[in-house]
This record gives sequence, structure tokens and C-alpha cells, in this order.
Amino acid sequence: MFLDDVSKFLGDLFRPKPDHITVSSAPAPAKTLLPEKLPRHVAIIMDGNGRWATGRGLPRSAGHAAGTEALRDIIRASDDWGIGALSLYAFSTENWSRSKDEVSALMGLLLRYFNSEIDELDEKNVKITILGDVEGMPQPQREALVNAMARTADNTGLRLNIALNYGGRAELVRAAQRLARRAVEGEIAPEEIDEAAFSGELYTAHLPDVDLLIRTSGEMRTSNFLPWQLVYAEMVFDSCYWPDFDRVRYLKCLWEYARRDRRFGGVKGQAPERANSEEDAN
Ligand code: FPP
Repeated sequence: MFLDDVSKFLGDLFRPKPDHITVSSAPAPAKTLLPEKLPRHVAIIMDGNGRWATGRGLPRSAGHAAGTEALRDIIRASDDWGIGALSLYAFSTENWSRSKDEVSALMGLLLRYFNSEIDELDEKNVKITILGDVEGMPQPQREALVNAMARTADNTGLRLNIALNYGGRAELVRAAQRLARRAVEGEIAPEEIDEAAFSGELYTAHLPDVDLLIRTSGEMRTSNFLPWQLVYAEMVFDSCYWPDFDRVRYLKCLWEYARRDRRFGGVKGQAPERANSEEDAN
């Protein structure tokens, strides 16, 4: 990627945002939020579909269907509010171990979602990226995913990342293998392998690290989701099940993020010291 591309890309992430965000039914003080306080990259673990359904005497697939409705509006809200990138954990490599019926219901929902939303997403300039092993998806889903990525490849709006057939450790192993291959082919020297080179081989290459991770359903773990990208993420856990997550709850998470004090290992008010400065050398 050339420098011009990089600055264009970063410009896209900082694209104009609304003056402030208001959700009419949000209780005070979470009514408005200034754009400069917004996270650039939000990741969400959409948990609790099964429990939502079971609690209502419904099959788990009904929870996933309701979860898809919630997801539709959270994507729209992210776009409305000018979030730069949104990464959603939709199907992990471990999820294949669920019952055949549940996996098939999820695959059906996925296909219907892409078929019904792709026009609107493309129209809204959303760029879709699938995080995970697309090749390992069933053929109809694979085709829909490849088509969605190709169709929106040049879009410059919200970066919508959907993790499917995704495992965080597998992503790290894949990045290591890709770097090793490049080293063997003489394209990169082993000592040139640094954090930037490693990040560049992840599914999220060229995206900033996650600023805010949201997980619903009261569980407090990261479950093999974006282990590299989450290292400095602020985490907000909402006790509601995913189908009940809405704009108001989302805004509360953003509000909680805005009041956090992020120090990245430094000390507030102190400029970072330069490593290997001239003074160090003397
Ligand atoms: C976790 O809840 C949720 C999932 C494994 C699937 C998430 C999928 C969707 C929200 C909809 C489909 C996605 C797209 C992109 C259309 P769980 O089933 O583990 O809930 P539980 O912990 O209560 O059992």
C-alpha cells in the first residue's frame, strides 16, 4: 500500500460524522455523544441468542433470527453515527460443533441476510470484509460472501467486518505462516518481521486496532475473538441477550467508552519518551 492510499484510507476512517449522536429514547445523561469521543473500531460478541429463545420456549434458531434483526439495526446505527469500523463475531470455528439443525439455521440466516441487505449496504458505501476461512464455508454462503466483498471492495464508508468460520489463534497461525512463506521466498528478511508486518497479514490488515469490545449476555471473556487486535481495547459487557441489544444500549456502551481513561501503558499527562534518543546515546 502506498502512502497516498494509506492517507486516503485513514481519511475514510475519520470521515465526517454527525455533530453529535442523539437517540430519542435514551435516558439522560446518555443522550448526546460528541464524535471525537467515538471509538474508531468497535467489535461485538453477539452472545445470548440461544438463551433468549430458550427463555421463551422457542427453538434456538428463533434466537438467531431475532439476533439477525438486532444486528441489522446495529449496523445501520454504526453507519448513521460515523463509526469507522465494526467487527461482528457471527460464527466461530468452534460453532460447527453445534447441532446440524442449528448450524443449518445459521447458514440459512446468513444467506438471507446477505441477499436482502447487500443492495442497501452497497448503496450506503459500506465495505464488507469477511474475517475467517471463507473457503471452508458451504458453497452458496461462500459465493454470497465473495460476491459481497467484491461488490463493496471500493466502498469508502463504514468498514463492516463479519467474522465467519473464524478463530483468533488460527488467524495468528495463518499470519505466521504467510510471513514464513514470504521469508522463504526472500521477499522479507526475518529481522524485518515486526508488529506492523504481522498486523499486515491479519484479516484486519490496514484497520486500526479495536478500541471498544462489546459483549452481550453477561459473559465476560473474549472467546478467541481478535486476540491481536484487542490488546488495548476497552471492554464493555451488557447483561442483555443479543436479540434485546438495540441503539439505546449501544449508545450507552459508547458513552461508557467515552468516559474511560485510555493510557496505553503510559501515564496521563506525560508525553511518551522517545526510545533510542540522542540523550540515551550520550
Ligand atoms: C451466540 O449466541 C451467537 C451466535 C453463535 C451466532 C450469532 C449470529 C447472529 C446474530 C445472526 C446471524 C449472523 C449474520 C451475519 C446474519 P449463542 O447461540 O451462543 O447463545 P447462548 O450462549 O445463549 O447459547
